[in-house]
Amino acid sequence: MDPYSRHVIICTGGYCSPERKGGELYSLLATLLEREGLLFGPLRVKRGETPCLGVCESGPIVVVYPDGVWYSGVTSHLLGRIVKEHLKEGKVVQEAVFHRL
Ligand code: FES
Repeated sequence: MDPYSRHVIICTGGYCSPERKGGELYSLLATLLEREGLLFGPLRVKRGETPCLGVCESGPIVVVYPDGVWYSGVTSHLLGRIVKEHLKEGKVVQEAVFHRL
């Protein structure tokens, strides 16, 4: 198995996002990763979903590891920026970060 450079975890629960927008983001993420060429190669990204990340407000919540960057209020547009700017170009989308490890 080729190694992954990063792991993106999306909360698909209904507490941080009562409309459960995280599920849509999780599906969209696969398309965005493919578009940016992040499914294979040295910048390969693993995606995952979870029913809760313990935040439970201002979602959907998206986290990127090993960077330890937590994003809140993620929309499809913001997810596109996260994929292109953070995952591909290595530049964190600072204005959407609410927590860092
Ligand atoms: S339901 Fe999303 S962080 Fe808890």
